[in-house]
Amino acid sequence: MTKWLLCLIAAGMLGGAVNAAPGDYLSPFAISYDAATKSLYVAEKTARQVARVLPGSGTVNKLYPLPSEPNGLALSKDGKTLFVTVEEPQGRIYVLNTDSGETVKQINAGHTPMSPKLSPDEKTLYVCNRFDNNVSIIDIASGKTVKKLAATREPVALTLTLDGKFLYVANHLPEGAANVDFMTSVIQIIDTQKKEVIKNIALPNGAIDLREMTISPDGKYVYVPSIFARFLVPTTQIERGWINTHALNIIDAKQQRLIHTVLLDDVDLGAANPWGVGCSPDHKYIVVVHSAPHELSIIDREKLFEKLSTVPENDGTHKFEELAENPMNDLSFLFGVRRRIHLKGIGPRNLVVLNDRAYITEYFSDSLGVVALSPDIKDNVRSVPLGPRKEMDSVRKGEMYFNDASLCYQQWQSCSTCHPDARMDAVNWDLLNDGIGNPKSTKSLLLAHMTPPAMVRGVRPDAETGVRAGIRYIQFAVPEEDKSVAIDDYLKSLKPIPSPHLVDGKLSAAAERGKKIFEEAGCSMCHEGAYYTDMEKYDVGTGADNEAGTEFDTPALIEVWRTAPYLYDGRAAAMTDIFRTFNPKDEHGNTSELTDEQLNDLIEYVMSL
Ligand code: HEC
Ligand code: HEC
Repeated sequence: MTKWLLCLIAAGMLGGAVNAAPGDYLSPFAISYDAATKSLYVAEKTARQVARVLPGSGTVNKLYPLPSEPNGLALSKDGKTLFVTVEEPQGRIYVLNTDSGETVKQINAGHTPMSPKLSPDEKTLYVCNRFDNNVSIIDIASGKTVKKLAATREPVALTLTLDGKFLYVANHLPEGAANVDFMTSVIQIIDTQKKEVIKNIALPNGAIDLREMTISPDGKYVYVPSIFARFLVPTTQIERGWINTHALNIIDAKQQRLIHTVLLDDVDLGAANPWGVGCSPDHKYIVVVHSAPHELSIIDREKLFEKLSTVPENDGTHKFEELAENPMNDLSFLFGVRRRIHLKGIGPRNLVVLNDRAYITEYFSDSLGVVALSPDIKDNVRSVPLGPRKEMDSVRKGEMYFNDASLCYQQWQSCSTCHPDARMDAVNWDLLNDGIGNPKSTKSLLLAHMTPPAMVRGVRPDAETGVRAGIRYIQFAVPEEDKSVAIDDYLKSLKPIPSPHLVDGKLSAAAERGKKIFEEAGCSMCHEGAYYTDMEKYDVGTGADNEAGTEFDTPALIEVWRTAPYLYDGRAAAMTDIFRTFNPKDEHGNTSELTDEQLNDLIEYVMSL
């Protein structure tokens, strides 16, 4: 008898249970509750399926296989139709009949659709197209996209006001040049009748890496958790959230403005990498998932607002941010207001909150967390397996460690804090590997191991050394070799995501023209080979201030469409700026003679890699 079966019997869960495809990790991610059948739907990413789960027992009683990895769910009110977004460059939304399990329809969306939301009349579907940087408004009956609205940078989450009039869009990353002293992810508000973006709400300085948001059950507030990056200070220490803290941003939905930002950490314990957020239907609790230390914050909503009524509201100015008695700077503000609960599963992501319980997808342990919210209930934390647990290989372990803040002193951050999805956070950090006072734009770790040396100035011989240095000098912990090796294996396993600039997976006509210019302008002298780097260092005239004349490691160009801003200090917001503004003497390829059209073609090519 398999361990899994024993487990089921022990949990008394055999009635009507179905098994996951054997040998797969599940990676539960999105979750949705169906009041009609009192069941949960769980999108299991790497297993490429949705599971229907009974909340009481954790029994999986139906599986819905999909061709790609599902990341988002929206359920019709009668529980009969489930809309599932999947991670594809030419993204689709699968419309499933929950009874028959059949796909009744496929709706085309953009690159990596996420966070589907239904209008109250269930005629319209809204969806983020993460890598197209826009939001689709889709007419469900015809399956046609009515309009696409531009987002700022990687829209990942949507929430709709109760009347359906306003759609909030959470952008994952900040946009613009990074050698500045203000960087933030933006919340946009779309008027769904006008079908226009009517407002951009900048979060406080350093509020980045957005993942999820929710509207309160009374429709009055939008809650958005974020990382709160202190990117202006050198990373010399980590105590008291010196490098990164974590926050809940509270938007007043009527006034459509940010009114409060509250820190979620404790003075000596970070609450790293917040992800999902939800409210109990009675609005007694706000629950925030901390994905990296595997915790929940259960916030007593009444007490929180009582306490907030004694502090000034955010007036949107820098002056406000500097106020001493400001919950934005107060690591003990939530004392007596919030309970931190350690989960039994690993890598929590999203949640639904029913009256007295929260159900949390636990990505790395392939399980469902169940937490009773009332402080009076003992034994209040369970973790129920969602299928046979596959032994983790080194790659999966490495991904888990990379996303784990318990490897960091006082849980202040994980590697994924600055390298979300193993890429980059689009801000500059003054790490100490190359001295102090010369901030560098965070590097994506795709291909890091294949293209030594590592770091912008090549100060580490290879990425392996960089990984261990990261644990020692940024996590302030002692690297353990087996964990470092697993992180290496995970990073080596990363696959590039096809560029949104490709047309049916191929170079566009403009990119084909640009490919020739790439040769003619001398780009391929240094950006050569499969990864577009000769792995040598050059002074291409970009070094400024105390780095004037410095040679930098030639960066790989695969997936460079995703990693703006550019150059070592992130001063080039767009790729055009690299050549039109920061290459006056043609030291970085021969670009001064190119016409605007030729330069556009060249950039179209590079952005397609
Ligand atoms: C505080 C933000 C931050 C954290 C946390 C962080 N990094 Fe980085 N990382 C950076 C920045 C910024 C760079 C680029 C700096 C440079 O090149 O000088 C970088 C570069 C790297 C590189 C070199 C990549 C290349 O191609 O040259 C590796 C490898 C790396 N990080 C691994 C890690 C690992 C592993 C962790 C977790 C143990 C981690 N980082 C945590 C900010 C961070
Ligand atoms: C002499 C070698 C060399 C040549 C020739 C060269 N590059 Fe570069 N390239 C580099 C180096 C070194 C950097 C890093 C510079 C920095 O960070 O300031 C770089 C940076 C870049 C970046 C920014 C990448 C990032 O992530 O920030 C792009 C894009 C790029 N090059 C494209 C091109 C194109 C297109 C051409 C031809 C017009 C070209 N390069 C010619 C060496 C070269």
